[in-house]
Amino acid sequence: MSLRRIIYTSHATNEYNKRDLLDLLHESRGYNSIDNISGVLMYRDGYFLQIIEGEDSLVDDLVKRIANDTRHDDIKIINDALVEQRLFPGWSMGCADFEDPTLSLIPGISNEFTNPQFIDDLLDRLPEVASYIHKNLTKEQIYGAEAS
Ligand SMILES: Cc1cc2nc3c(=O)[nH]c(=O)nc-3n(C[C@H](O)[C@H](O)[C@H](O)COP(=O)(O)O)c2cc1C
Repeated sequence: MSLRRIIYTSHATNEYNKRDLLDLLHESRGYNSIDNISGVLMYRDGYFLQIIEGEDSLVDDLVKRIANDTRHDDIKIINDALVEQRLFPGWSMGCADFEDPTLSLIPGISNEFTNPQFIDDLLDRLPEVASYIHKNLTKEQIYGAEAS
């Protein structure tokens, strides 16, 4: 099995509040657990950043579905690679809502998804960013409100 990881940013066509994000996550997690897809979805200032990892062809199928979704546009793949291991094993899609002031990405990293410096730092420091996200997200953000 080839494990693939894709990272993209996109622009939300409508403003997302917590409820909208939860609805989207609820739907996504259902599909992702069937396909053994893991990752994290971040939202800030009208932009999404999503990290998706899983079996190559299943990630491919998912990215095609996501690309056709009218809830966002301006999708930019910022990284697409075959990888040895998952950064978010067991997360059918964690959610980091960066509108929440208690959450900032990692100290010293800009958290504007569209800033090229952010993208460079994120890619350079991905394992560190992943471990920071692991430590700082609540159970609800990782697994969804239905899990306790
Ligand atoms: C920002 C964003 C992230 C999404 N993430 C996922 C995801 O991780 N998994 C998933 O199955 N669908 C995700 N979706 C929803 C898909 O685009 C699609 O609606 C869903 O997979 C159902 O596919 P279908 O409409 O072709 O039946 C996401 C949509 C958006 C706008």
